[in-house]
Amino acid sequence: MTIQENISLKPYNTFGLNAHAKYFTRIGNEDNLIALLSDKMLSTEKQLVLGSGSNILLKGDFDGVVLKNEIFGKEVISETEDKVLVKIGAGENWHQFVLWSLEQGYFGLENLSLIPGTVGASPIQNIGAYGLELKDVFESLEAIEVKTGKKEVFFKKDCNFGYRNSIFKKKYKGQFYITSVTLRLSRKNTVNVSYGAIQKVLTEMELEQITPKAVSDAVIQIRSSKLPNPAVIGNAGSFFKNPAINQSLFQDLQKKFPSLVFYPLANNYFKIPAGWLIEQCGWKGKIVGNTGTYKNQALVIVNHGHATGKEIIDLTEKIENSVLEKFNIKLDREVNIV
Ligand code: FAD
Ligand code: EPU
Repeated sequence: MTIQENISLKPYNTFGLNAHAKYFTRIGNEDNLIALLSDKMLSTEKQLVLGSGSNILLKGDFDGVVLKNEIFGKEVISETEDKVLVKIGAGENWHQFVLWSLEQGYFGLENLSLIPGTVGASPIQNIGAYGLELKDVFESLEAIEVKTGKKEVFFKKDCNFGYRNSIFKKKYKGQFYITSVTLRLSRKNTVNVSYGAIQKVLTEMELEQITPKAVSDAVIQIRSSKLPNPAVIGNAGSFFKNPAINQSLFQDLQKKFPSLVFYPLANNYFKIPAGWLIEQCGWKGKIVGNTGTYKNQALVIVNHGHATGKEIIDLTEKIENSVLEKFNIKLDREVNIV
């Protein structure tokens, strides 16, 4: 196990922020991890488990040890005519895994195509897009408790999955290193086209048959048209979550803003797209120093080249304040501040 010192994290976060880590090491397997966790000097340092860095904002240098997750591998645990259980190493790239599963004839992940990041991070915020969330295909995960080095298995009921949320983002934040994830996929050629935008693109494709691969292609097409490619322009996807508001506030806002975009939820709650709120406050495409919001999607904060974490935080606080002032809605961050 090699420990590097004073390493730039610029290649390791999709915002492209040039913060430094005091120590940096790559974890290739569980034995590496357990050795590191029992190392006298390193175990007293602050630790950050890092996947692809596509959902973090480094507010400055990291005064501790970064554990870059490189635990790879895919294993079919069991297979029937209808279903297959696949165990995936936490360091595998999520989108590459989605493409691999499609090639094998293992379906159910199409709608989550092109989400950046590692498989190991996917349960942290229960990744979701286009009518599907990880929890819908999730079976279990294995994780090592950072404090004790003990291995634990978490099943779906243990993870408290919610919208962009899980037990690993709240109660167990920073306490477990996820080493593998097991997903339950389908061997039947069924598709989920409940999301309007997918249906529209599929219609334009004029296909004879709507296959899971076609759904994946449609999702890739939609995402590419809306979201900036982090290799070209630094970002971490949606910076805030879409807020859910109660009926009384909803009725109030609908009167004041007849063009309000909303999606009804259960129990008389309404989800409002944060991108709409931010755009209405005049922030869409705005450039502020080295930062700004993306021209096609106001919910995505971008680094125009030389931004610091502090500049991004300052901008997002201004955005939060204007949304609060105009709509009386408090935005919650989706991105993890480190
Ligand atoms: P990182 O950013 O490296 O880590 C995120 C958090 O998880 C950190 O707190 C980290 O410590 C922790 N963590 C990472 N790996 C582990 C592990 N093995 N064990 C324990 N803790 C761990 N998300 C969506 O849900 N839907 C989208 O549609 C979506 N679109 C995006 C589009 C773009 C362009 C970008 C840049 C991001 C998007 N995201 C989306 C956010 C991001 O892709 C996901 O949150 C992804 O799961 C993050 O993976 P990562 O490996 O980069 O995690
Ligand atoms: N909108 C605007 N202006 C904008 C952006 C959006 O008015 O600048 C309005 C439009 O009415 C649009 C609606 O908001 O129809 C929804 O926008 P979009 O379809 O782009 O989706 P989103 O709600 O902004 C969410 C997720 C994305 C996910 C997509 C597709 C959150 C916080 N974000 O975005 O996830 O890919 O839906 O399912 O839930 C991420 O988490 O990083 C992420 C990109």
